[in-house]
Amino acid sequence: RAGKMSPRGPGSAPIPLPLAAALLLALRVGRALALPEICIQCPGSVGNRSEVARYCKQTPELMLHARCCLNQNGTILGLDLQNCSLKHLGPNFPQAHTAIIIDLHANPLKDDLANTFHGFIQLQTLILPEDVNCPGGINAWNTVTFYPNNQTCEGQRNLCNSTGDTEICPENGSCVPDGPGLLQCVCADGFHGYKCMRQGSFSLLTFFGILGSTTLFISILLWGTQRRKAKAS
Ligand SMILES: *[C@@H]1O[C@H](CO)[C@@H](O)[C@H](O)[C@H]1NC(C)=O
Ligand SMILES: *[C@@H]1O[C@H](CO)[C@@H](O)[C@H](O)[C@H]1NC(C)=O
Ligand SMILES: *[C@@H]1O[C@H](CO)[C@@H](O)[C@H](O)[C@H]1NC(C)=O
Ligand SMILES: *[C@@H]1O[C@H](CO)[C@@H](O)[C@H](O)[C@H]1NC(C)=O
Ligand SMILES: *[C@@H]1O[C@H](CO)[C@@H](O)[C@H](O)[C@H]1NC(C)=O
Ligand SMILES: *[C@@H]1O[C@H](CO)[C@@H](O)[C@H](O)[C@H]1NC(C)=O
Repeated sequence: RAGKMSPRGPGSAPIPLPLAAALLLALRVGRALALPEICIQCPGSVGNRSEVARYCKQTPELMLHARCCLNQNGTILGLDLQNCSLKHLGPNFPQAHTAIIIDLHANPLKDDLANTFHGFIQLQTLILPEDVNCPGGINAWNTVTFYPNNQTCEGQRNLCNSTGDTEICPENGSCVPDGPGLLQCVCADGFHGYKCMRQGSFSLLTFFGILGSTTLFISILLWGTQRRKAKAS
């Protein structure tokens, strides 16, 4: 532990006590400020008029740090990357998978967000540039609102519930949400393999895997499109 390190190396002149104390303090403060990289991805802090700031100030235990709203454990509950000149969300974005609210508007985003939100199961409010579609499409959210300068996706739907009569997952597997428009089939205890049909000692083996969930995601998109067409006609 850094706290037990001697402030002087072998043979070096003793460091005066106040300086050592200052060094220790700097170390401790440095550790306290070890924010997830995504929170310092772009300069500045959450603006006081942002939706993320409003959310964060509702609960006394939550704190704003740089671009994030964190709980006492340092878990990201809000992320505000608005107006950051971002073309891509980058490799650190999954650090925000615990977020409840994310603001990405006023950025020239070029990514298709369909697979960016894997595992973001808590996300309830997503604010996007006006020309970027809500991930998972309109069927993945309770409310999608279009404004001149932004688009909001609110209330993530649980696709495992909204499929009605169709059984998505095999008999000995169960459906779990995996982010907007995404779901996974998890085999029951004691089952594994294709369609969870094999019995054995493995548990929690996902049936679809990465390739499979992409295919499933595409078929859900198609299913949504067809439903929308059916509604329109
Ligand atoms: C936002 O910050 C500005 C200056 O920092 C301050 O004048 C203003 O009152 C703040 N607004 C709110 C709603 O806190
Ligand atoms: C912080 O983490 C601890 C242990 O993981 C957990 O019990 C506690 O509920 C967490 N607190 C918050 C506010 O998430
Ligand atoms: C975006 O940031 C720039 C400076 O970085 C600022 O001049 C501009 O007003 C900001 N725009 C909005 C919509 O906040
Ligand atoms: C989205 O745009 C509308 C209309 O321009 C505005 O009233 C609203 O505050 C914007 N939302 C955010 C989060 O910036
Ligand atoms: C989904 O279904 C479960 C159990 O059937 C229920 O507890 C949960 O509230 C439902 N979620 C949504 C978003 O409807
Ligand atoms: C599911 O499990 C039951 C026993 O728990 C078994 O009888 C049944 O054949 C299994 N279904 C499939 C499709 O493997």
